[in-house]
Amino acid sequence: ELGPYSHFMQKEIHEQPKALSDTIEAVLENGFAAGLFGARAAELLPQVEGVKILACGTSFYAGLTAKYWIESIAGISCDVEIASEYRYRDAFANPRHLVVTISQSGETLDTMEALKYAKELGHNMALSICNVRESAIPRASELVFYTRAGAEIGVASTKAFTTQLVGLFALAVTLGKLRGRVDAQAEHGYQEALRQLPGSVQHALNLEPQIKAWSDKFAAKQNALFLGRGLHYPIALEGALKLKEISYIHAEAYPAGELKHGPLALVDESMPVVVIAPNDALLEKVKSNMQEVRARGGELFVFADLDSHFSESDGVHVIRTPRHVGVLSAIVHTIPVQLLAYHVALARGTDVDKPRNLAKSVTVE
Ligand code: F6R
Repeated sequence: ELGPYSHFMQKEIHEQPKALSDTIEAVLENGFAAGLFGARAAELLPQVEGVKILACGTSFYAGLTAKYWIESIAGISCDVEIASEYRYRDAFANPRHLVVTISQSGETLDTMEALKYAKELGHNMALSICNVRESAIPRASELVFYTRAGAEIGVASTKAFTTQLVGLFALAVTLGKLRGRVDAQAEHGYQEALRQLPGSVQHALNLEPQIKAWSDKFAAKQNALFLGRGLHYPIALEGALKLKEISYIHAEAYPAGELKHGPLALVDESMPVVVIAPNDALLEKVKSNMQEVRARGGELFVFADLDSHFSESDGVHVIRTPRHVGVLSAIVHTIPVQLLAYHVALARGTDVDKPRNLAKSVTVE
């Protein structure tokens, strides 16, 4: 079953070009039409005036990424909340807001209960982004987008996350089209970005030997910090979660601009700092945040794309990621942080596919 791979997690990381192209095929066949999200989508999506995303864990980070797309491409407000928090608070419900739940398994109890609670509060439009057909959460939703990741067996979510991002990106573009904010030229650009994505992800996978070479430097550490800005901040969060859950190294992620507001106090020679720093509008800001780290002796491990103009220096290690595919750069940059967590866990000898204390599907509170 594992073929040439040592673990399901490694296999599933490498299945991403296929999982993504299968999921993208569904989107492109439909041409960002409402029908992509189910029979009632043509009736419901034009009424949407805001989006509320509810999820747990890695799926929550997919939601945080989607917020950037939904607000910038569709031009509507989007908030993202941890399902287990939402379900127990007095929340304000606007029935014109679309509730979006994200769940690989479709069975996560807190996400299911958050959806039920949203309905009690008066929401009547719910969309599920899910990987398992006919599971509980899509069955309780008016609309659904099934990711085509195939079965995910490793406890740590990998291909489910990147395919969720494709579904959420498609939602942002579809809503943008319905609102007249995406013209034919822009739509063509988004289609091209999706078409190129599996190839870019394959290039990122080819970085595995370089990433493995970093893993020994992490294996003996107690802590690690992950930094990103904008769309790459949720990817930093995802990198930190992957590292802690499978290697048991304590890891935190921050938007790089927050360093000065507290976490910089943690930085010294023993703190490795992973930075996701492709060439986007925020790169210069990220570079100055990196100098702040270096000045305190922190060792930098930077994922920079071919246009970032970075060079290695004392205490600064650089891996060049593929030139990013514009708005989808966050998906490409997920691959290196998954591979880093995997190889650090291998170096520490932990049970990668079945991390201690965790279950694949969390059907209890
Ligand atoms: C982390 C991980 C978990 C899940 C979370 C939600 O690698 O897998 O954080 O993302 O338990 O699960 P789903 O998406 O099935 O609702």
